[in-house]
Amino acid sequence: MLQSAIDDLTQRGAERGVDLRPGLSLIEERLQTTVASDLPFLDEASRYLIDAGGKRFRPMLVLLTGMLTGAPSSHPALVDAGVIVELVHLSTLYHDDVIDTADVRRGAPSAHVKWSNTVAILTGDFLLARASELSAALGVEVTRVMARTIADLCQGQIREVQGSAAGQQRIPGVVADRDHYLRVIGEKTASLIGSSCRLGAILTDQGADATEAVTRYGWHLGMSFQLADDVLDITSSSSESGKTPGTDLREGVRSLPVLLALDAEGPDSRLAKLLDEPSDGAVAEALACLREHPALELARDAARMEATKAKHALDSLPQSLVPAAAVEGLAYLADYAADRVG
Ligand code: IPE
Ligand code: IPE
Ligand code: MG
Ligand code: MG
Repeated sequence: MLQSAIDDLTQRGAERGVDLRPGLSLIEERLQTTVASDLPFLDEASRYLIDAGGKRFRPMLVLLTGMLTGAPSSHPALVDAGVIVELVHLSTLYHDDVIDTADVRRGAPSAHVKWSNTVAILTGDFLLARASELSAALGVEVTRVMARTIADLCQGQIREVQGSAAGQQRIPGVVADRDHYLRVIGEKTASLIGSSCRLGAILTDQGADATEAVTRYGWHLGMSFQLADDVLDITSSSSESGKTPGTDLREGVRSLPVLLALDAEGPDSRLAKLLDEPSDGAVAEALACLREHPALELARDAARMEATKAKHALDSLPQSLVPAAAVEGLAYLADYAADRVG
């Protein structure tokens, strides 16, 4: 549903003078040239996930926030920033599938399955390096925002590992409660989505107030996006998400729907026992139980609440000065991010 919302937004925006298509197609071209390597195998590995698909959600946010000033989507700095945020996102996908031992990504075998962990990790690092080079050309402020964002991403992933049962033998464990979960998703997902919006504002000189407002919008949108992703890990099919359902359960990651279901069922419940067991049978039974559980709707509500907060952040933009279609586009994405199925 998010993909169709994005297509719809692209179409309707164009009709109303906020045309994302030129910027998005320049970003596709520039992604290809930026990841080029004179080592043919690295070149192939770097293009692998770009060519497999993906929604390009973060580049689209850079363009839309930049377009709040009336800039065209083909604005060169916005296009470069769109490439940067997609490359950083891509690098986290290569790495994340190693961390989560996830076999499918964007509907294709994950890079570590197709080749090896070593190849997946080094390709992710290579994409980060390409993103850094491009951000150096956009200036110190962009480079600083991205460096901090990458640090947040790493911190969120490490924090998540600390909270998962699978990582607790030699890694200092922490209590995986709701606060822990919210910090993890803020760091691993909301930070990059917030920064995508921030770059759009910085690169079009929107001033401090508007820059803070769109960053706040992006951060809450990112929270909503990850809350929805964690519901999808339970409810979606591989054909909808391009990923394997139940990955969080298999890795012992306690997402919000799982935490809420455990609160309701109690520590001695069948569900609690299943979640402590990594076998395929236990994961399948836990998934079946969670799919019917009222906790899912509570988690969806949490995603919708974050989407509402995202839209409220847009209220502090100077509405009279910005193209209404750009603001409406951002509000529209917030609605769909919370209720997406892919
Ligand atoms: C996947 O992000 C990782 C999360 C933060 C949930 P997307 O859902 O944006 O993945 P692609 O880019 O469309 O594949
Ligand atoms: C998403 O982590 C955030 C990053 C990739 C940094 P997840 O592990 O929840 O994302 P998916 O579900 O594999 O896309
Ligand atoms: Mg994952
Ligand atoms: Mg993960």
